[in-house]
Amino acid sequence: MTKAELIDRIQQLKREKNAVILAHYYTRPEVQDIADYLGDSLGLSQEAGKTDAQIIVFCGVHFMAETAAIISPDKKVLIPVQGAGCSLAESITGEALRAWKKDHPEGVIVSYVNTTAEVKAWTDICCTSANALKVVKSIPSDRQILFVPDKNLGAWIRKVTGREMELWDGDCCVHERITSDMILAKSQEYPGADILIHPECHCSQDEKILQLPQAYMYSTAGMIKHALQSAKKQFIIATEIETIHKLQQDNPEKEFIPIHPKTICGQMKKVTLESVWEALEKEQHVVEISEEIRRRAWIPIERMLQIK
Ligand code: 13P
Ligand code: SF4
Repeated sequence: MTKAELIDRIQQLKREKNAVILAHYYTRPEVQDIADYLGDSLGLSQEAGKTDAQIIVFCGVHFMAETAAIISPDKKVLIPVQGAGCSLAESITGEALRAWKKDHPEGVIVSYVNTTAEVKAWTDICCTSANALKVVKSIPSDRQILFVPDKNLGAWIRKVTGREMELWDGDCCVHERITSDMILAKSQEYPGADILIHPECHCSQDEKILQLPQAYMYSTAGMIKHALQSAKKQFIIATEIETIHKLQQDNPEKEFIPIHPKTICGQMKKVTLESVWEALEKEQHVVEISEEIRRRAWIPIERMLQIK
């Protein structure tokens, strides 16, 4: 089947089955191009809650599809590749949270949305990189906080808000490799460029980086918005490389320089057009969550979505 035929079949199946395709900015360009909604973790969670479709085909990693299934229990949520996981989400368990809560009954557990449903079920409030500062600021100052699982995002929030938090020792294997030296070298090479940095990066709490006048810390959607609104012509992109596909589509006259050509999330790339077609055709792989876990996991997500 040619690429054009594959896309036609996907569109046809989508209409027949009243399905919607949601995709993260880190998926392959051809997958992004067939999405009804392209977004970051926060945008995709919000969209999963709004759609009227019967089927959600979630092009991303497993925790994201699980989040959609938690929010939309009346929909069939499909993940095209069952084994698309996330090193960060897999670095923490519900059991670890239960142990912390036992020792800190008044403490608040804030979980990054990059966690499994089982971890969310033991969480007080979720956050994404787009709303993490607001979420942490909403917690009364006398409550102790455990932030899981991304230590870099947590350290950045701690730095910006001044709020003491215990941090879990997890990281994203893609962003953890983005160091201060890489940022400083690229900024010397492109002195006129703005530098857009994801807070999951290893360098996100480094004073040298935070003080660079042209450096901005953003979630993926924040980067897209900044590039659209900025008068600058060059941008260094310190996050997963495929974000540049959307940036370039929106701003054909601007230049986007990847921080490193190998800043690639292999798990996100597992989703292909063929796997999306097969998912729709066979209605596979259905994301299953026990009703008890789903109900519990919904509470911290709902609390997060209520923070404006
Ligand atoms: P955002 O989508 O919140 O920018 O998070 C990045 C990420 O690593 C998702 O896996
Ligand atoms: Fe997980 Fe990192 Fe890939 Fe996002 S980029 S899915 S956090 S491994």
